[in-house]
Amino acid sequence: MSDQHLEIRNLHVAPIADPEREILQGIDLVVGKGEVHAIMGPNGSGKTTLAYALMGHPAYVVTEGRVLWKGMDILGLSPDKRARLGMFLAFQYPTAIPGLSVASFLRTALNARRQGLEKNPDVDPTDPTRGGVAMGEFRRLMRAKMALLRMDEAFATRYVNEGFSGGEKKRLEMLQMAVLEPEIAILDETDSGLDIDALRIVAEGVNAMLNPELGVLLITHYQRLLNYIKPDRVHVLARGRIITSGGRDLALELEETGYAPVLRAAGFEADELDDALDAPLPQPAEAR
Ligand SMILES: Nc1ncnc2c1ncn2[C@@H]1O[C@H](COP(=O)(O)OP(=O)(O)OP(=O)(O)O)[C@@H](O)[C@H]1O
Ligand SMILES: [Mg+2]
Repeated sequence: MSDQHLEIRNLHVAPIADPEREILQGIDLVVGKGEVHAIMGPNGSGKTTLAYALMGHPAYVVTEGRVLWKGMDILGLSPDKRARLGMFLAFQYPTAIPGLSVASFLRTALNARRQGLEKNPDVDPTDPTRGGVAMGEFRRLMRAKMALLRMDEAFATRYVNEGFSGGEKKRLEMLQMAVLEPEIAILDETDSGLDIDALRIVAEGVNAMLNPELGVLLITHYQRLLNYIKPDRVHVLARGRIITSGGRDLALELEETGYAPVLRAAGFEADELDDALDAPLPQPAEAR
């Protein structure tokens, strides 16, 4: 096994407030370098929980299994360290950070990413002569990436997500990805809330970012997005497990039939699942 894979083995995850109630009950998934994997699945099946667990969200506990990234067991690392190692999550529900401008936020994040995991003491992110990003260089980078996503430059001076429309928030998530240049990107419903034109622009932006070093885990409800971003594999997450996997055809099939046939084939009654999903459950904490 190459050390450039994201390797998820028998992953079980529960909310920290209720560690007995596992949301994920044994996820196995390998995302190779340069591969795009789509994850689909009914509401409440655990897709966001998987994304959060991979990044180390404090509201979740891994009760069993392991996650290797570049051959390293990352489950003991803080989200910050995982990001420094090249992991990235675009949130389904991005949070506003009043008082922090988009430009400062991105420059700080980029400097941290360049400094890497070990926080090399010889690199001072705030000092361009010692490995930090110089203002001029950063401005050029921001301009290029904003042009890629056809974002107005005025965004750079606004506070992170404050007063942003749903679609603008999703675009800012993509701008972060473009600037940070991760090696594994988890995109949690980046297509939701985008109008048709924005969807195309964002998808083109993601396609422009694709490269042989980047693995992508694309969580989506709609096959529409997969018309633009072509996945190598499509997985269906339901009942805390990946119940089936296939190629692009699987997404087309699901669009036609809904989830009932794949649920039945996996031995679940769709009605029973619907009942389970209707049960009132605590809502996840806001993404931080
Ligand atoms: N922190 C938490 N505490 C308690 N329950 C949680 C927590 N996070 C998630 N859950 C529950 O776990 C289940 C899976 O939630 P999750 O957000 O992962 O679903 P999802 O597949 O992303 O759904 P959607 O398609 O609607 O985004 C839901 O029933 C949810 O209420
Ligand atoms: Mg979700």
